[in-house]
Amino acid sequence: MKPIKVGVLGLGTVGGGTVNVLKRNAAEIARRAGREIIITRASAKDLTKQRICDTQGIILTTDPLDIINDPEIDIVLELIGGAGAVKDMVLTAIANGKHVVTANKSLIALHGNEIFAKASEQGVIVAFEAAVAGGIPIIKAIREGLSGNRIQWLAGIINGTGNFILTEMRDKGRDFADVLAEAQALGYAEADPTFDVEGIDAAHKLTILASIAFGIPLQFDKVYTEGITQITRTDVEYAEQLGYRIKHLGIARQTPEGIELRVHPTLIPERRLIANVDGVKNAVLVEGDAVGPTLYYGAGAGAEPTASAVVADVIDVVRALTSDPENRVPHLAFQADALADIPLLSSERFKTAYYLRLNAEDKPGVLADVTRILAVHNISIEAIIQKEPSQGETAIPIIMLTQVTLEQKMNAAIAEIEALPTVTGKISRIRLETLG
Ligand code: HSE
Repeated sequence: MKPIKVGVLGLGTVGGGTVNVLKRNAAEIARRAGREIIITRASAKDLTKQRICDTQGIILTTDPLDIINDPEIDIVLELIGGAGAVKDMVLTAIANGKHVVTANKSLIALHGNEIFAKASEQGVIVAFEAAVAGGIPIIKAIREGLSGNRIQWLAGIINGTGNFILTEMRDKGRDFADVLAEAQALGYAEADPTFDVEGIDAAHKLTILASIAFGIPLQFDKVYTEGITQITRTDVEYAEQLGYRIKHLGIARQTPEGIELRVHPTLIPERRLIANVDGVKNAVLVEGDAVGPTLYYGAGAGAEPTASAVVADVIDVVRALTSDPENRVPHLAFQADALADIPLLSSERFKTAYYLRLNAEDKPGVLADVTRILAVHNISIEAIIQKEPSQGETAIPIIMLTQVTLEQKMNAAIAEIEALPTVTGKISRIRLETLG
């Protein structure tokens, strides 16, 4: 089957990340999509600029219209951002019969109603997963995974820059301006960073979430919006003393009187999972009447996390163009004829760290025997605690954390330790994963 040809508008943070992911994972992506996907053209304002991606094999231009008007291009990726000239570019691409994938939240929040109407007229797809919460597939989760629910409310940390600033202020006492400059350097912040700190970016994203949650037209102008610029370290500290964290939330709630759409700094009890979402990470909590609360967490900005969502949309479009309608998404995510025969490891070949608890006689040399056995099997100890014996007991509990090792080695070491005359009973073993 002929490869699908993609043209990329914009080679900045998201565009560069998308080129990298599409190229690096090309073979695996083709197995999922059912067809090869190639980037034939890309546009950038300044072609001499240093890029994060390798553009070899891609025809570059400074004029996006070269791509939008190229009859060979099947899908246009709009990764320029902003809602000005880009709107016309997207409408022209649609008029030319191109499918469009965009990461542009302001474009969708402000002009989505018009764009979707034109796309329906033309019978093309406009996909925008990357517009909300970067790499978290929240649009798909609400639109597809939760589609049996009546969504009651959702609340999200949906601006990574703002969350990064609040986290650094709280944890390190850093200055607002200093943290913002770092977020800009890391490519998290908007071209105009007031969009981040004044809550406009979060309001764009909330507008989109509310529409897909409640089935209402996009209405950015109705969102109550407050930023984080008035939050001081003193507020952060007092909130902590009261058992709360301050987070910048976008909240959409369905009430009998109507829908609340609001973006503002919010105190949340510190024991809530979402209160512990720090740095540039995003999280969205969605309450459905059937499922109850569900939480989605991940990187909300950055080159490759955002590219992850863009590429997923591209694959969706390619599947729609390629597969028979009944099997648009393959049952096992990869095309049936592209499943691979990769061996599954037996438990002996698992690699993990361990918590070990054993009971041993309180005699000189016992601990040395245990640690010698671990050393013989090349198992490093991360931490060790020796407890006092419980009343009436002679054996002492020894608790150890080990570094990552092969399960086979740990099985052998445990068998030898249990065979020591000074060790009583079985060793309790719990696997430990840092999930870092
Ligand atoms: N400026 C945005 C943020 C980028 O910080 O979350 C991702 O939309």
